[in-house]
Amino acid sequence: DCPASVKKQLAKVFEVSLRTTVPDERDVLPSVDACAAKSGVKFADYQCNNAMGIFAKIKGKQSGFRGPPAVGQAIVKNLPQSEMIESCSVAGPGFVNIVLSKKWIAERLERLLIDGIDNWAPRLPVKTVLVDFSSPNVAKEMHVGHLRSTIIGDTLARMFEFCRVETLIRRNHLGDWGTQFGMLIAHLFDTFPNPEDFNETAIGDLQAFYKASKVRFDNEPEFKQRAQLSVVRLQSGEEVYRKAWERICDISKAEFEKVYQRLGVRLEAKGESYYNDLIPPTLDKLDKLGLIQEDDGARVIFIEGANIPIIAVKRDGGYNYSSTDIASLWYRLNEEKVEWNIYVTDVGQWQHFDMLFKAFRRAGWLPKDENEFPICTHVGFGLVLGEDGKRFRTRSSDTIRLVELLDEAKKRCKASLLERDAVKDWSDDEIEKTAEAVGYGAVKYADLRINRLTNYTFSFDQMLNDKGNTAVYLQYAHARICSIMRKSGKDIEEIKKNGKIVLDHEDERALGLHLIQFPEVFEESLTNLLPNVLCEYLYNLTEIFTKKFYTNCQVVGSPEETSRLLLCEATLIVMRQCFHILGIVPVYRL
Ligand code: ARG
Repeated sequence: DCPASVKKQLAKVFEVSLRTTVPDERDVLPSVDACAAKSGVKFADYQCNNAMGIFAKIKGKQSGFRGPPAVGQAIVKNLPQSEMIESCSVAGPGFVNIVLSKKWIAERLERLLIDGIDNWAPRLPVKTVLVDFSSPNVAKEMHVGHLRSTIIGDTLARMFEFCRVETLIRRNHLGDWGTQFGMLIAHLFDTFPNPEDFNETAIGDLQAFYKASKVRFDNEPEFKQRAQLSVVRLQSGEEVYRKAWERICDISKAEFEKVYQRLGVRLEAKGESYYNDLIPPTLDKLDKLGLIQEDDGARVIFIEGANIPIIAVKRDGGYNYSSTDIASLWYRLNEEKVEWNIYVTDVGQWQHFDMLFKAFRRAGWLPKDENEFPICTHVGFGLVLGEDGKRFRTRSSDTIRLVELLDEAKKRCKASLLERDAVKDWSDDEIEKTAEAVGYGAVKYADLRINRLTNYTFSFDQMLNDKGNTAVYLQYAHARICSIMRKSGKDIEEIKKNGKIVLDHEDERALGLHLIQFPEVFEESLTNLLPNVLCEYLYNLTEIFTKKFYTNCQVVGSPEETSRLLLCEATLIVMRQCFHILGIVPVYRL
C-alpha cells in the first residue's frame, strides 16, 4: 500500500461517489489514472474512467441513466467535498477529467520539504525480502551479464530499502562449486608444486588461469582424467584439495569485490558450496512426497507442461546447478523465512526458475495459487549487445572485463571534464570523484533506463552524451539546480520554515504536479520490478524542470524567489532520491 500516492487518494474520493451513484454495484472498483500529455497537451491531471464500464453493467436494469456520459455526470455530482480537487468535467464517451487543486499540490510539497521523502515510500506486506543478484562464477569471468544483474539487482534492493522492509538480504549466490574446480586445482598443483607459492600475486589473473586450464582440459586426456579425479577428491573433503579450492575462491572474491566497490554495491555472499550438505536431505523430502523419478540413470522431477525435467541428481550421482537451487530455495523459505525471494538473471534462465517454482508448488512448499502474493519471482533481463548488434565482446572476441569497462567510462568523463574551463579551480580529488560519479552513473543509467527484458546496446558515445536521455544530462540538471541555490545566497533551511509555495505559473504547476507523482510512479516501478519506469519519471522531471520551469520562470531576483527556491529544493530532494535508488552518486557542480 502507498498512502502517499495521489492516484490512490483520488481513488478513495471516487469510491465514495461510486457507492452513491450505483449503490448496488459494490464490486465496481474506482479506476483513476494520471493523464499522459498527448502531443504536448494535457486536458486534465487525472482521469476516472468508470462510467463506461458501469453503464455497460447496468444497461437494461431500470437505472435511469441514458448513457455513459450521464453516469459520468452523476459520478461528478456525487463526489464528496475534497481539498484535492479543483474541478471535474465529463468528456467524450464519459471520462471524468480531474484537475487537482494547486493549493493542495503546494501543500504536499511544503510537507515534503519539512518531513523529507521517507513518508512517500510504500509499505510492503512482507517483512523479509531476498534479492539474489550478481552471483558470478568463481574463476570464470564476471561478464557483462553479471554487470546487468548487479546493477538491476542493486536498484531493486535499494527500492526495498526505501520501503524500509524489516530484513533485506542482498544475496550473492556465487558459483563457487562445480566441475570447473577439478581442472583449476589440477592445473594449480602442476603450476605451483609448493602450495605456499600460490597466492594472488603469483597467479596474477585468475581468468587467464582458468583459460589455460581449460585448454589443457580440452586437449590433454591425462590432465582431463586428473581434473575429474580432483573433483571427487575435493568433494570427499580431502584437506589439500579443500585448501586449494578455498584459495581460488578467495582470490576470485577479491576480484569481484573490486567491481562492487566501484559500483557502490553491497552483497552478502552465500555461495553454492554452502548448500552442499543440504542437498541430500532436501531431495529426500521431495522423494517422500513422490516428486522424484528415475530417468535413464538420473533422478529427475517432471514438471507438467515442460518438455524437459529438472535433473536433481546426474547420472554419475553428482549434483548440479538445479540441485543447489532446490536446496537453497528450501533454505531461504524455511531457515531464512524469506517472504519475497527475487532472482535476477538473464532471461535465458527463465525456464530453470519456472520449473523450480513449479516443483515447489507441487511439493506444497509454495502456495498452489499463482495469483497470491508471488513469494518467488524471476527477474529476467536481455542481452548486452555491442554497437555491431552482436553480443558485446572485445575485438579479440573475448568477453569484456568489467573493471576495464568502468575504467574506460571514468577515463572518458575525466577527459571531457578537463576540456572545460569551469574545472580550472577544481582539486584533483574533485575531478576524480566527479569523473567516477558521472562515468559509473552513466553505465548504470544506460542499463536501467531500458526495459530490462529487452536487449540493450552498450555504447560509450551514447551513454556519455550530455544531451540525450543519459545520466550525464541528469547530472548537469542536478548541478544546475544546486548552482541556482548557491547563487541565491539564501539559507534554504531558513526559508523552508515559513516560506510558502505558490504555483501560479503553469510551468510551476506542471513541475509541482510531477513531483507529487513520485510515490505512485515509484510504487508502479516496484510492483513490476521495472527500474526503467523510475528512470522515465526522472528523465521527465528533468525535462520539465529544464525546458519548462527553468526556461520560463526566473528564480533568483524575481518576486517569486522564495517560492521558486522551495520548488527547486523539492526538485532536488526527489531527484536525489531517484539517483540514490538507481545507485547514482549526484554531483553538486559540473
Ligand atoms: N551463477 C549463475 C550464473 O552466472 C547465476 C546464479 C543465479 N542465482 C541462483 N540462485 N541460481 O549464471
